[in-house]
Amino acid sequence: MKFFVDTADVDAIAELNDLGMVDGVTTNPSLILKSGRDILEVTKEIADMVSGPVSAEVVALKADEMIAEGRKLAQIADNIAVKVPLTWDGLKACNVLTNDGHMVNVTLCFSGNQALLAAKAGATFISPFIGRLDDINLDGMQLIADIRQIYDNYDFETEILAASIRSVNHAFEAARIGSDVMTAPPDVIKKMAQHPLTDKGLDAFLKDWEKTGQKIL
Ligand code: E4P
Repeated sequence: MKFFVDTADVDAIAELNDLGMVDGVTTNPSLILKSGRDILEVTKEIADMVSGPVSAEVVALKADEMIAEGRKLAQIADNIAVKVPLTWDGLKACNVLTNDGHMVNVTLCFSGNQALLAAKAGATFISPFIGRLDDINLDGMQLIADIRQIYDNYDFETEILAASIRSVNHAFEAARIGSDVMTAPPDVIKKMAQHPLTDKGLDAFLKDWEKTGQKIL
């Protein structure tokens, strides 16, 4: 599974990127606001840092304006994926931008039918939002499983980008189901390394090591 980092915080991206953990980055208008940076500037900085796709989201609602915004965002760097919302206009924009040769990430997906339409429109990525479905007592992970089945039934090439990942369990389940990509906040990715038995075992090993009186270096 590819790991995208869901943030516009360049320092956090750099830390994970140095570990070889970053296959791409996703941003959205809320994350740009949180960064306090100019969208074009910060997106360029991120796109120069990572080699994989960097999603930058349009904010227009009409297809022709989305296409214009998408073309401008795509000029930032070769690895920009234009993010469009899963609306009828967003699907139109997806189709045109895909035919332009751009990567397109269709976002705010909450149903299997929406994912089917995005694939038909030629999306590079579909972003089903797990956490936001869980927030309203629906099963976000079931949506990932449903889309996996639909795409596999027809060999669609659109990649499932599990989004709105809020916990390490979300990450694990998305991987188990076979999501192609997940995008998660940096702290969730770092928490995936944690296990209490790892800490307990390490503590015991270090105590015994101290008793040996030896040194490696
Ligand atoms: C995905 O591309 C979105 O940026 C993100 O995953 C949304 O997550 P949230 O629901 O936690 O805001």
